[in-house]
Amino acid sequence: TGPDTVSPTGQPTGADQARMAQSGSYLTNAQGTRLYDTDHSLKAGPRGPVLLQDHHLREKVMHFDHERIPERVVHARGAGAHGVFRSYGTAANVTKAAFLSEDVETPVFVRFSTVLGSRGSADTVRDTRGFATKFYTSEGVFDLVGNNIPVFFIQDAIKFPDVIHAGKPHPDREIPQAQSAHDTFWDFVTLHTEATHHTLWNMSDRGIPRSYRTMEGFGVHTFRLVNAAGETTLVKFHWKPKLGVHSLVWEEAQIINGVDPDFHRRDLADAIEAGAYPQWEFGIQTFPDTPDQTFEGIDLLDPTNIVPEELAPVQPIGLLTLNRNPSNFFAETEQVAFHVGHLVPGIDITDDPLLAGRLFSYLDTQITRLAGPNFPQIPINRPHAPVNDMLRDGFHQTAVHRGVAPYRPNSLDGGCPFTAGADMGAYVETPVRVPEATKVREAPESFNDHFSQPRRFWLSMSPVEREHIIGAYSFELAKCYEQAIRERALLVLANIDPELCAGVAAGLGLPAPEPTVPLADVEPSPALSQVGHTWPTD
Ligand code: HEM
Repeated sequence: TGPDTVSPTGQPTGADQARMAQSGSYLTNAQGTRLYDTDHSLKAGPRGPVLLQDHHLREKVMHFDHERIPERVVHARGAGAHGVFRSYGTAANVTKAAFLSEDVETPVFVRFSTVLGSRGSADTVRDTRGFATKFYTSEGVFDLVGNNIPVFFIQDAIKFPDVIHAGKPHPDREIPQAQSAHDTFWDFVTLHTEATHHTLWNMSDRGIPRSYRTMEGFGVHTFRLVNAAGETTLVKFHWKPKLGVHSLVWEEAQIINGVDPDFHRRDLADAIEAGAYPQWEFGIQTFPDTPDQTFEGIDLLDPTNIVPEELAPVQPIGLLTLNRNPSNFFAETEQVAFHVGHLVPGIDITDDPLLAGRLFSYLDTQITRLAGPNFPQIPINRPHAPVNDMLRDGFHQTAVHRGVAPYRPNSLDGGCPFTAGADMGAYVETPVRVPEATKVREAPESFNDHFSQPRRFWLSMSPVEREHIIGAYSFELAKCYEQAIRERALLVLANIDPELCAGVAAGLGLPAPEPTVPLADVEPSPALSQVGHTWPTD
């Protein structure tokens, strides 16, 4: 399967060769020529100068010089694992995706990550966590590139470079290296109040998970499922950890950062090695695909919104089990390339403007990070479905394509077996009607409510969770150098809740301001409260 990897001489190349370890009966250079010594440079006498003609020295050092590839521009630090996804078949009425029909097992690779820190940063910082899953389905690769927080900071991908510039370390001092406690971050999220909801989740216990194994995952955007009859349903994807949702408390997180900065990655690998395979139930919230794409007044195209589970319960559709550690971090965890545009028949996108930008960004960044357009041929990225594309050549091409006519129609390679249409199991975009509209650079008015969802989250918290949130805001804001940013943050908090605002104001030794908009009249959503901070015992 995958691109042709047989060399012109018929020998296995690429993945098979790469599996050879240095423990064989002899070492070779990269060309397969046996070496008799790889510990000494070629010299003019034992105490003489090293010779330029030492091609083995040059090959060895040249390769070493280029061992590092650029880290991901975001989500640079991560840990991955292989596993299997077994579907229950309960989504078969809403999607024709083969891997979601009854009792199908699909191999997966999952990568968890922090967002802002560099590759060498610590695991237990306060941050959002990535939760990206690659399903190697019989119909091609499906990637669900989600987070452990169900909302995002911004509503339009054109703001992504801005929010990341604000979140990354200050350009002058490169401080802080991994955490959100700094002026540019707080400057951004207090000037862009659509970030209020995501920031509140970050300041809650969700920002410091106990383990990757105890995190929920969310697809964030609303997706569109299509069934065999062509009927569509809007959905939000959820991962629910079998161990429950558990967090650290802030003091623990700080100590662990020093004592064991690899805490989460170690925990994942150790658990899998010990046979304590982490599991998540996969679920969907479903909504009718109405022309306005809202549900109970909630705009489903606004990625700063959740839909409370009390209004739309999460329906279980399958089980994910992680059961194998990577054998080579670089080959698998570092080179894996997720993309929200890796879709299979039965799963389609919506017009969420954040999702639209992501559909461009992942492929684009991977051309740089993985040095050219052929990264789908890297073993971890290879589909398990047969590939028969007309993509050719380029940096790091490892396939030896047969045939002479990579175009269609052609009269030389059998014409190219291709008939359009869904009956051959092809991915066909849902024919969604695009309303007649004028070209504008504007957000819809429904994107303007920035406080009612954060207020619902706050009202759903237990007393101890509220105490932690107040502590987190107080700690983080106290680290800002600019007093004006602290004051502006309190104005934002006043629009969420007076108790929250007063608590943080007291923590900062500042007066609590009055709200500038009427407090939203919303009901709590008990499902949002995670409560547990102890390690599960089962
Ligand atoms: C990487 C999630 C928004 C650009 C990632 C990763 C995750 C993720 C989980 C790490 C993938 C891995 O483990 O390799 C999300 C979520 C978003 C979001 C849930 C919002 C709902 C965006 C937006 C953009 C973007 C709006 C750009 C417009 C990127 C880039 C990478 C990345 C460039 C690095 C990819 C790579 O180097 O392979 N994102 N992201 N993300 N994201 Fe996003």
